[in-house]
Amino acid sequence: MSHLVYIPQDIEKEGKRYLVEKGYKVKVGSDLSQKIIMEEIKDCDAVLTRSTAVINKEVITAAENLKVIAKYGVGLDNIDIEAATERGIYVTNTPEANANSVAEHVMALILSLSKNLSLADKELRSGNFAIRNQLFGMDLEGKTLGIIGLGRIGRILAKKASKGFDMKVIGYDPYVTACTNSELEIATDLEWVFRNSDVISLHLPLTKTTKGIIGCRELSWMKPSSYFVNASRGGVVKEADLVNALQAGRLLVLE
Ligand SMILES: NC(=O)c1ccc[n+]([C@@H]2O[C@H](COP(=O)([O-])OP(=O)(O)OC[C@H]3O[C@@H](n4cnc5c(N)ncnc54)[C@H](O)[C@@H]3O)[C@@H](O)[C@H]2O)c1
Repeated sequence: MSHLVYIPQDIEKEGKRYLVEKGYKVKVGSDLSQKIIMEEIKDCDAVLTRSTAVINKEVITAAENLKVIAKYGVGLDNIDIEAATERGIYVTNTPEANANSVAEHVMALILSLSKNLSLADKELRSGNFAIRNQLFGMDLEGKTLGIIGLGRIGRILAKKASKGFDMKVIGYDPYVTACTNSELEIATDLEWVFRNSDVISLHLPLTKTTKGIIGCRELSWMKPSSYFVNASRGGVVKEADLVNALQAGRLLVLE
């Protein structure tokens, strides 16, 4: 009997073809509401989920045949691991698959911020040819990148920023005291990292411990000229504090 894999949010055809070639049946979801997911998962043996579909306790309870919850990505914050474990359901993820892509993406964001790319492009396209004399970019060479979370993505980013852009890289991670990245200085004081960085980049998992871990206190430690990048999860930053910092002009949005 072939097992049924539920994919609440569609994936590339190559992935679905792979499953079919291996003998699985595939069911692609029609909607990401909890009600529909609970209905559609009922007869499935496995679920292959991205970040948006929430696989919480109610969903897991509704999935009577479920044996595996496979995350098509890294962060497991949309899956109730405890509820899965109670039922003996395996939870898997793909930790190496996109780490380099995220680190490259973050370098793109840092370059875009430091060179005002997005704003300059918008202004030029609207006819403001004088924009080249109105914006001042920042060179990354010699500047300090502060990385919060020194896991797979954080460490790849450290290498790219240091070896590719001659940045000084400092980092904070309570669970990492040493690593093989010789270019990376590991600090034990989060405040020191925030105060001494020209760019702060967050690479934290969203867990009960890290939810809202960055708030007005941490944002107030930033130099007025520094940049803030979060390509991990929005929930690690207290949204209201971020809004306050933006409204108070302590942080500016560069479009
Ligand atoms: N934007 C995207 O497309 C995208 C893609 C992949 C991953 N992510 C997110 O990025 C996160 C990090 O990915 P990763 O592969 O580097 O994960 P990882 O598990 O390798 O690294 C996370 C690091 O954060 C550290 N950490 C935990 N709590 C901390 C704290 N309080 N302060 C500082 N550090 C702390 C851990 O010790 C670990 O070293 C994922 O959990 C996911 O949410 C986003």
